[in-house]
Amino acid sequence: MEGAHGLRRGGTGVVDTGKPSAADEAREAVVEAALRRLDLDAKTRLLAGQDTWSLPALSEIGLRSLVMSDGPIGVRGVRWTADDPSVALPSPTALAATWDPSLAHRAGVLLAQEARRKGVHVLLAPTVNLHRSPLGGRHFEAYSEDPHLTGRIGTGYVRGVQSGGVGTTVKHFVANDAETERFTVDNQVPERALHELYLAPFEAIVSGARPWGVMTAYNTVNGTTMTEHHHLVGEVLRGTWGFDGINVSDWSAARDTARALRGGLDIAMPGPRTVYGDALAAAVRDGRADEADVDAAVRRVLRLAARVGILRGAEPAVTEPPAPVDGEALAREIARRSFVLVRNERGALPLKPGTVALIGAAARDARILGGGSATVFPPRTVSPLDGLTAALPEGTLSYAVGADPATELATAGRGFTLRAVCRDAAGTVIGTGSAPSGHIQWMGSDLPDGVRHDNLHTVELTGTLTPRESGPHTFGIKGKGAFTLTVDGTTYYDGVQRPDGKDPFGALFNAPVPRAQAELTAGEPVTVSLTHTVQVPDDRPLRVITFALAHAAPRRDPDELIAEAVETARNADTAVVVVATTDRVESEGFDRADLRLPGRQDDLVRAVAAANPRTVVVVNSGSPVELPWRDEVAAVLLTWFPGQEGGAALADVLTGAHEPGGRLPTTWGSLADAPVTQVVPVAGELPYTEGVFIGYRAWEKAGRTPAYPFGHGLGYTDWTYESLDADGTTVRVRLRNTGERPGREVVQVYLSPAEPDPERPARWLAGFAGAEAGPGESVEVSVELPRRAFEIWDEKVKAWAFVKGSYEITAGRSIVDRRLAARINV
Ligand code: BGC
Repeated sequence: MEGAHGLRRGGTGVVDTGKPSAADEAREAVVEAALRRLDLDAKTRLLAGQDTWSLPALSEIGLRSLVMSDGPIGVRGVRWTADDPSVALPSPTALAATWDPSLAHRAGVLLAQEARRKGVHVLLAPTVNLHRSPLGGRHFEAYSEDPHLTGRIGTGYVRGVQSGGVGTTVKHFVANDAETERFTVDNQVPERALHELYLAPFEAIVSGARPWGVMTAYNTVNGTTMTEHHHLVGEVLRGTWGFDGINVSDWSAARDTARALRGGLDIAMPGPRTVYGDALAAAVRDGRADEADVDAAVRRVLRLAARVGILRGAEPAVTEPPAPVDGEALAREIARRSFVLVRNERGALPLKPGTVALIGAAARDARILGGGSATVFPPRTVSPLDGLTAALPEGTLSYAVGADPATELATAGRGFTLRAVCRDAAGTVIGTGSAPSGHIQWMGSDLPDGVRHDNLHTVELTGTLTPRESGPHTFGIKGKGAFTLTVDGTTYYDGVQRPDGKDPFGALFNAPVPRAQAELTAGEPVTVSLTHTVQVPDDRPLRVITFALAHAAPRRDPDELIAEAVETARNADTAVVVVATTDRVESEGFDRADLRLPGRQDDLVRAVAAANPRTVVVVNSGSPVELPWRDEVAAVLLTWFPGQEGGAALADVLTGAHEPGGRLPTTWGSLADAPVTQVVPVAGELPYTEGVFIGYRAWEKAGRTPAYPFGHGLGYTDWTYESLDADGTTVRVRLRNTGERPGREVVQVYLSPAEPDPERPARWLAGFAGAEAGPGESVEVSVELPRRAFEIWDEKVKAWAFVKGSYEITAGRSIVDRRLAARINV
């Protein structure tokens, strides 16, 4: 039997007793009374999206419409538009790299504030799937390869969001660890791996943060699609773990009315065409579905509504929102705390006074976030060039592009001013909308004012481009269907594009097709128009209008660009090269084929490093890439997708105003050495044959050395580990800052069975704690090892089994840099 628990007050001092409070009980009574007043049709209507992002209001019980929005680095709101900007925090990989649940909590508080500002009640986040294979295209949006770290960061995040009175949906339950064939893939996950790895973060968050929701994944696990998985949802999540929140489908993941209801799915999103609503009422009436199951789902939805304060008569879970947070300052703080300095030879960083050559396309056009549903539109972005220009003395900074990472056309960015004009079949304008980056992404009812699917005939992206460079500019079209492309009065394309692929959001993820080349002059604006004729009839359950205008500036000779960068580097005291992935490399919707940096960026780094021994490489990617030149450069700083303030945070760290605080949440190594790589299903199935051996567990088992191990990261001071005491499962570590400046260390505690057991990893992360100390000071941290750290999932009895015996406990700076050890018997 599930219980109803809630958080009692906001602020950072969240009180979560785990037991129903008087307020929870009062809220439950309101929920029960409301439920009794609803008839079958109203109840089934409440379980289906009324549009892309919301549930219907039910005035008869004083229920307002419940609004959901993505997540996880900001709150986009109900429209895919830049008109209503959102603070963009660093990518989830970055948040995990801080190894600081309290910082994740503060991120959550800010996101709740953003959600409330936008009228959003539930944030579709966090993503807590694991980095199983480095090829997973959406890894930037998840935290780590380790379930303990993922669970701790996710717990802090959920508690933070919910302390602001906004719900979360921990996603994607479960094993959505790659994107290839994501709607249908049957991930065959052995039971031990399922419990010890993939379910573990969800379980930790359910017990530590009592989330008000989860989102069930598109994929299938061991033969049953997740929106119908009675065992994992009904028995494990709700039964064993006591989860009392809602279960919402991933968008378009619910397939079958009766099976979804039996499987424990509460809300089918998006609407209005879903397997719930009228279809569910009919299924109850003809005996295929049980009304008691409908009631259970409605009860959970009403409980959520009560918690977020939109059900009349129920006191919300949070009555006093936390104190306001400065989003810009927090985005900058998280970014610098997340940057991982993996190499720093001869004190290359922080920079000494002198001249700096900044190199790289991403240094100027910053890549601050990953692609797909996690996209938000920030009010501003600070590029590395902006950040360093503001921070360094005038006349000390020079810049060169060096290499262009975009090997394909990119969505129309800088230099374009575009808007969308909607017309009916007679050609009359019926509405206009904004078109951030030349990209239209209208789902369901998310259309400009005055526009409906039944009166919309064409959408024209229209405006100007003011070129930055003279020469041949290429224009292209991303999307499916009929398009007309005109540049400077000349029509270059008038035809129909038919990209392949089965993903319903495929048009969003497919590559753009080049369709026009026009000779343009720098600084002279030209008109651009791309008209899409909307396909009618459109009988897909969710009507999506998505297409984009793509563009590439004249390509200069790549060798010439590198030569120019080398000259710039040679004339400076330090060269800072920013290398990056693109949205065609890391995104929702597809996986990666390799881990290489796109374009000529590796050649660029090598050439610059040969010209300037003080070459610092800044790696701007959401997840691991290969760094084949890493031993040839002075320093390597990983900055993830650093969010809107990334460039300012980079300046903070390069100049030494702050130390880089991050530690690797995931192993960085080459694809050839990576032990688990398979993300492509065979005949629809993807067997997780490696069992519990993913990430560092697999690298250690294979006896291979990655480029940079899990947990690794340097600051600007030095630490000596002085003592380790283990009193039962309480571990106390004393360490001293032996460097010259204050710093923060992440003390990592690993556990390893004294008698090696081939069925278990050699060692695993059992706990960690942050320690801060000034120069010369010593500090003690205490880490409590959870019981679960000693347990395995016993497949025979289908339960956790505590493995008694002797264990080695080590404390140190990474999975390989272990400084102190002790033995315990449990
Ligand atoms: C993604 C979810 C997201 C949803 C709504 C899906 O395609 O997998 O993570 O919340 O879309 O945008």
